[in-house]
Formats: sequence, C-alpha cells, structure tokens
Amino acid sequence: MKLSFSLLAFVTLVFAALVHSPFAAEPVQDVPKEVRPIDVFMRRKLDLSRDALKGIVTEDFALIKRTAEGMEKMSRQAEWEVFRLDEYNHMSAEFRRIARSLAHQAEKKNIDAAALAYVQLTMSCVECHKYTRGVRMANDVPAKK
Ligand code: HEC
Repeated sequence: MKLSFSLLAFVTLVFAALVHSPFAAEPVQDVPKEVRPIDVFMRRKLDLSRDALKGIVTEDFALIKRTAEGMEKMSRQAEWEVFRLDEYNHMSAEFRRIARSLAHQAEKKNIDAAALAYVQLTMSCVECHKYTRGVRMANDVPAKK
C-alpha cells in the first residue's frame, strides 16, 4: 500500500514536471490553425464570387449585380491593402475594374458578357494570389500591419 502510494506520487510528479516543462509536446494536431481577421475578410471574396457564379448560372441579375458590387466595395476597403506595392495596387485596380464591368453587364442583363467578366474576374483572383505568394516567398514583405 505504502509502496503504491509513493509510486503514484512519483508518477504524478513526473507527469506534472513534463506538462510544465518546455519540452512537453505541444498538442499540435488538436489546435486549429489560428484564423486571423484578415482571413475572415478575404474569404468573403470567395463567398461573393460563388454567389456571383450562382447568379450567372441561374440568370439572377440582381444577385450578380449585388455580389459584383460587394467585391468592388471590398477592394476599396483598408483591409484589402495588405501590401503597399505598385504591382499589388495595379492588380487591385484591375480586379475593381472587372468587378464593375460584371455589375454593369448584370444591369444590362447581358448574360454572355457577364459570364465573360466572371471568367476574367476569376483569372484576376488567381493572378493576384500567384503574385502575393511570390512576394511572401521572397520574404521581404512590406506588410502594412
Ligand atoms: C489584388 C490581389 C487579390 C485579388 C485580386 C484577390 N485576392 Fe484573395 N487574397 C489576397 C491577399 C493579399 C490575401 C491574404 C493573403 C495573406 O496575407 O495570407 C487573400 C486571401 C484570400 C483568401 C483567404 C485564404 C485563407 O488563407 O483563408 C481567399 C479565400 C481569397 N483570397 C479568395 C479570393 C477570390 C475568390 C478572389 C477573386 C474573386 C480573390 N481572392 C482575389 C489578394 C487578392
């Protein structure tokens, strides 16, 4: 009885030491990757562009217009300006121009032109993401935050 009590105390101590030691393993897998406010902001683009596609395939012009204007508006918000780089500003301006054109085609109820603008918009997502990944890899990011 006495022996098992000491053993229990010993095990408890070792366990406590391990938990508090800097060598204790971090529970890597259980902890979800931190979602930053900027991610939440940026992911709204994806939601809006999905809804825009829905609008295009169902010929819901009001939905296309609303989502295109939403994306255009987002690109003018301060959070959008993650990088202070000419190329980034240029790509943002291009994205904005295409979003406006998408809204315009929805107003005109021109589904073919709207579909084309949507494809261009998608290309501009990919272009900018390709670019920003490159900037991150170059590791000299003049990030705003
Ligand atoms: C002018 C540049 C630019 C354009 C255009 C752009 N994005 Fe982004 N996007 C970014 C930046 C910058 C981030 C944040 C990257 C970072 O700092 O981690 C981002 C992040 C995201 C994220 C979040 C990723 C994550 O880790 O959660 C999604 C989703 C996304 N964008 C979707 C889109 C979609 C869809 C479009 C087109 C409709 C688009 N983006 C157009 C620059 C752009």
